[in-house]
Amino acid sequence: MIFLEALACKNKGRVPVWIMRQAGRYLPSYQLLRKKHPLKELFFTPELAARVTLLPFQELELDAAICFSDILVIVKALGFSIDFLDKPVVSPLLTTEEAIDRIFCQPLEESLFFLFKTLEILKKELSVPLIGFCGGAFTVATYLMKEPLLWLYQRPDSFHRLLEKLTEASIEYVKKQIESGADVIQIFESHANLLPEEMLLEFVFPYLGRIVDAVKSLGAPVILFMRGSSYFVPELLSLRPTCISLDWHRSLQKMREKIPYPIAIQGNFDPHLLFAPKEKIVHTVKTHLLKDPGYIANLGHGVLPGVSVDAVKSFIEGVRLGSAAFNGDGYAGSQIYQLPDSGAVYRHY
Ligand code: CP3
Repeated sequence: MIFLEALACKNKGRVPVWIMRQAGRYLPSYQLLRKKHPLKELFFTPELAARVTLLPFQELELDAAICFSDILVIVKALGFSIDFLDKPVVSPLLTTEEAIDRIFCQPLEESLFFLFKTLEILKKELSVPLIGFCGGAFTVATYLMKEPLLWLYQRPDSFHRLLEKLTEASIEYVKKQIESGADVIQIFESHANLLPEEMLLEFVFPYLGRIVDAVKSLGAPVILFMRGSSYFVPELLSLRPTCISLDWHRSLQKMREKIPYPIAIQGNFDPHLLFAPKEKIVHTVKTHLLKDPGYIANLGHGVLPGVSVDAVKSFIEGVRLGSAAFNGDGYAGSQIYQLPDSGAVYRHY
């Protein structure tokens, strides 16, 4: 299982690869299923969600599977309803502070039964590790109100109370995902790039840290994805995730120099690269791939709509070719970086 080995920074084989949003969008087999079933049905029917998760494996050699679901299904457990149109639509949207205080988390094993069942089915079918996931509390919160940034600045106390409730529900949610068969959890804090640094420190990192700690306390690896990650490496390090998933703004080599073992890194190719000609994709991936025992190849964000399956195949081929010579003896730069002792400064919750 080179994916799990790489998460432990102990991979001696080739570089493992999976792709964010690998289960939908660009796959003709997925488009066909979408013609027959609305998205909601695909997400909420365990047999269908499991089938979609497995679709990319018919054509691509991937080293991990991510459960077909969405970061917003959790809001069902908190008394909201959710539909998936062009974008996810949650109702009723929050308009008052009292509505936040009334939010209450129903037992997840009932409200999100379908998701745990999907993981159980997948666990039996898969020969690669299974990734479960949740959204960061801040990102999920942005879908629950019309103007989240106005609320954040005008009514920060109740925004914190909302983040608190979302964090507690997410912790319960990822615990149950692990019990149902997820080997690894990835946290998607996709909208963090909306905020300036001082607001990230107050509204994002402390809550992320609590989910990271909860997953680690169960003995499972946790991957932290945040848009803008390249600019916040010290802060992300202080949360001690198993792995940091990087955006494409800085080179992998430079990022590894700032991210010490035993923290693994994932990413970080520009999703637009997959619109380039095959040769360019293969060459870029082959050349810039990190040859490192704690590295997982992926894009810096999800695969974009309109990308061809052939482009995704070229990406994977680039990873195979680039890692062929890697003998796993250690970091190519041969330097072992030490993690600083204290990261407590970002943990003022
Ligand atoms: O892309 C990211 O930033 C990852 C985090 C994230 C997911 N869902 C994870 C996901 C975010 C921000 C969402 C919200 C969401 N949900 C959006 C973005 C809307 C916006 O505000 O810009 C959309 C369009 C949805 C609905 C949705 N979720 C669709 C239509 C699909 C299936 C097909 C597709 O487009 O990929 C999903 C699946 C989904 N969302 C997965 C994950 C991890 C599982 C599929 C996979 O990773 O292969």
